[in-house]
Amino acid sequence: MVDISEIRTLVNTYEDRQTALLPVLHYIQDKEGCIPTGMTILLADLFNITQAELKGVLSFYHDFKDQPPTGRVFRMCRAEACQARGSEALAAQAQEIAKGTDTAVEAVYCLGLCASGPAADIDGKPVARLTAEKIAQLILQEPA
Ligand code: FES
Repeated sequence: MVDISEIRTLVNTYEDRQTALLPVLHYIQDKEGCIPTGMTILLADLFNITQAELKGVLSFYHDFKDQPPTGRVFRMCRAEACQARGSEALAAQAQEIAKGTDTAVEAVYCLGLCASGPAADIDGKPVARLTAEKIAQLILQEPA
């Protein structure tokens, strides 16, 4: 469980408290696998924003979850460069491949691998130049 003193230490590394919000949310998400709903009051208070404003941030960025993942997560890039290389069809194939597994297939919008698309990440590890065969291998293999 993330300790409030860790969060305060992180916030204090930023000159402007408001700019620390996203790094703090990423820090919590990395440690907990989600932003626990029980932390929203504390975070809103720490950043001097309303809970509604905080929920607005959390709902705008789809990376922030309110529950930790129950299995593996395969995130297929659906942004323009990857779309131009067939990511929409591959995402549909990934959904089919993942049926009956513990892997959730989600969308992500640009992983910075545009020149090597179609791209994705699986459990946070980036993968590029994807084909349906590579996706099946990634989803069906045991996690490292
Ligand atoms: Fe897919 Fe940038 S558009 S990685």
